[in-house]
Amino acid sequence: MRIVEIIERKRDGHRLSRDEIAAFVSGYTRGDIPDYQASALLMAIVLRGMDDTEVADLTLAMAESGEILDLSDVPGTVVDKHSTGGIGDKVSLIVAPVVAALGLPVGKMSGRGLGFSGGTLDKLESIPGYRVDLTVDEFKQQLRRIGVVLTGQSANLAPADAKLYALRDVTGTVPSLPLIVSSIMSKKIAAGADAIVLDVKVGSGAFMRTLEEARALAVDMVRIGQAVGRKVVARISNMSEPLGHAVGNSLEVVEALDVLRGGGPSTLVDHCLAIAGEMLYLGGVAADLTQATQTVADALVNGAGLRKFRELVEAQGGDVRYVDDPSLFPSAPVIRRVLAPRAGYLSQVAADEVGLAVVALGGGREVKGQAIDHAVGVVMHVKVGDRVGKGQPILTVHARTEQESVVAESRLMRALHFSDEPVAALPLFYDRIGAADVVR
Ligand code: URA
Repeated sequence: MRIVEIIERKRDGHRLSRDEIAAFVSGYTRGDIPDYQASALLMAIVLRGMDDTEVADLTLAMAESGEILDLSDVPGTVVDKHSTGGIGDKVSLIVAPVVAALGLPVGKMSGRGLGFSGGTLDKLESIPGYRVDLTVDEFKQQLRRIGVVLTGQSANLAPADAKLYALRDVTGTVPSLPLIVSSIMSKKIAAGADAIVLDVKVGSGAFMRTLEEARALAVDMVRIGQAVGRKVVARISNMSEPLGHAVGNSLEVVEALDVLRGGGPSTLVDHCLAIAGEMLYLGGVAADLTQATQTVADALVNGAGLRKFRELVEAQGGDVRYVDDPSLFPSAPVIRRVLAPRAGYLSQVAADEVGLAVVALGGGREVKGQAIDHAVGVVMHVKVGDRVGKGQPILTVHARTEQESVVAESRLMRALHFSDEPVAALPLFYDRIGAADVVR
């Protein structure tokens, strides 16, 4: 089967057969298909789309490109969560240890930054020594021993996604329903969890810009998860402004540690309560969502989640002194406070621009495999709906050079809009898609 013909067929709007999809996935994973041909096919998929059968075939081919973990020997219901990608999304760093502390094993394979969105692995690597390349045996042993794993895909789990993800990041091929569904669900299927909570983002800092697109993505992922026997629920959450305040790798770890110490921005805390609550409920250890959420809130306040996070960092080789004392994270050489140019209400944020400003500061990648700077980023001090006075600090830019901080400031100021009239705060969630919402 010639890859050129497969590219041409998708370019011309035809459906790809299961064999064509499998040939592409295995050929690219083995290294027989070069990046330029894979990029061409990805772009054809972005532009032409795929039907439900193609998406299911692509997902399974990617999941089967490596090992599919059998976690039947891990006691309890193994739960997992995944976000479709956003700005300032440090939720996994908080909910994985909290849920594990509450007795449900959490085994999670995360990704790196993708386009304008950040990635959990890049955030975790700001902790010196933290390993994101556990082998399959290490994954299983750690899950049995301490009940929580946060690692990457290098452990022969969905290796096709690891390669395709890195390629999509730098070829403008991220915002595509079939590619996002297959990327996320192949990892989830390979990682073997029994129950999966999906955090589907919608808004200016998400790959899905409308509620309709986000619902379609959620429904597809829930359907595929169910088809392979997993319990899946999706929450559709707002991503029209960064989640919490910090955007940038170590800045976000510090904010996550604040939440694990019982503090942190209330919107981020409420978001984590909802996602962790869903994980507990789906995992069968809470009678209802209200009880689940209260249990999570207690675990944040009494430090159980923080202790589990410390155990996780230690188990994966990270330096736990950074957990105990977040002031050890190196700060960027230039810290620039940005003041409100006028009085008014923050009415709108182009959140993707905030993410791109952080990538340009060095916090993300512009070419495959690029080293990133963990210390750079942006802290937003205002949320949509907040009233600001002229000259009030609204942002802090953490940069490598004065020049880069100036460029970031002007980009960020173009991303924020103010109004004279009061503006309502944005909701945290819009919808919930569960088994009953998916017609087979
Ligand atoms: N997260 C993933 O793992 N893959 C995507 O394509 C988008 C978000």
